[in-house]
Amino acid sequence: MRILITGGGGQLGRALARLGSQHEVLLPARSELDIARPSARDLVAAARPDLVINAAACTDVDGCERDPDLAYRVNALGARYVALGAERAGAALVQVSTDFVFNGRKGAPYQEFDATEPLSVYGASKLAGEVAVREACARSYVARTAWLYGLGGRSFVTNMLDLAERRPRLEVVEHEVGSPTFCDDLAAAILKLAASEVPGTYHLVNEGGCSRLEFARAILDEAGRPDYPIDSVDHFPRAAETPGYAPLRNFAAAELGVQLPDWRDALRRFLDAHLGRNG
Ligand SMILES: NC(=O)c1ccc[n+]([C@@H]2O[C@H](COP(=O)([O-])OP(=O)(O)OC[C@H]3O[C@@H](n4cnc5c(N)ncnc54)[C@H](OP(=O)(O)O)[C@@H]3O)[C@@H](O)[C@H]2O)c1
Repeated sequence: MRILITGGGGQLGRALARLGSQHEVLLPARSELDIARPSARDLVAAARPDLVINAAACTDVDGCERDPDLAYRVNALGARYVALGAERAGAALVQVSTDFVFNGRKGAPYQEFDATEPLSVYGASKLAGEVAVREACARSYVARTAWLYGLGGRSFVTNMLDLAERRPRLEVVEHEVGSPTFCDDLAAAILKLAASEVPGTYHLVNEGGCSRLEFARAILDEAGRPDYPIDSVDHFPRAAETPGYAPLRNFAAAELGVQLPDWRDALRRFLDAHLGRNG
């Protein structure tokens, strides 16, 4: 299978490239394929892929708040151009999306058929991207995920590890609850889902869910620092409003036999590799 991956330099893109190595993987640099340009449609079509995975996005949530045009240019229009290219090539498309399409007020984990209501420009632009790919490409999959961390990338996990080296204690919010997800597990699930030939909207996250505080505690415990102090705080100042309680429930993909491991197991495997503890 010929797989075209956009955003190959990002943390998910890198995991997809590693996992897809048994296929013919096309990994254009951003300078070769800028998804925010209308020409992206022609470039994607000309590559004649069987599967396109759009892992490119403007992921700076607070930056999107400051520059909405850029957010929509990449996350909405870019997704449309990529999807139109995939459609023209007769390819399937996986559009990676986010828990930020929800408002966090449901009080229970969100499944795929729950109503969306983004609170931020980032969330709204990603939701517009979802709509655009469904309209533009018949064989499109929307794979919503959350709280990503991956090998070689910057994430909440690496931030916690770095900050704990430099500060005597950390403050982390407890009211934010979500679904931490290891990019390697997500990449494997995306490839499995795309082979199902059941296009639609899916939630692909590691099983379980936790608060930011619980996640931070698990990161430092698993990294061998169980005594490092972490305090709970009510508020973390930032430009974008975030959904407070928005764990994702994988209902639809589980019906197809596509499920990710528990988040604690995933974190352990990530840290083993990240900290060089393998073998
Ligand atoms: N990170 C999370 O916690 C999280 C949570 C939920 C959903 N998601 C979604 O998961 C997907 C992957 O996220 P990630 O964490 O891997 O993101 P990431 O590490 O920020 O990578 C995004 C990639 O997209 C590239 N990109 C940005 N604008 C582009 C453009 N106009 N044309 C081509 N490439 C462009 C970036 O290139 P540069 O490096 O040159 O900027 C980068 O390589 C995204 O769709 C994101 O919305 C992420």
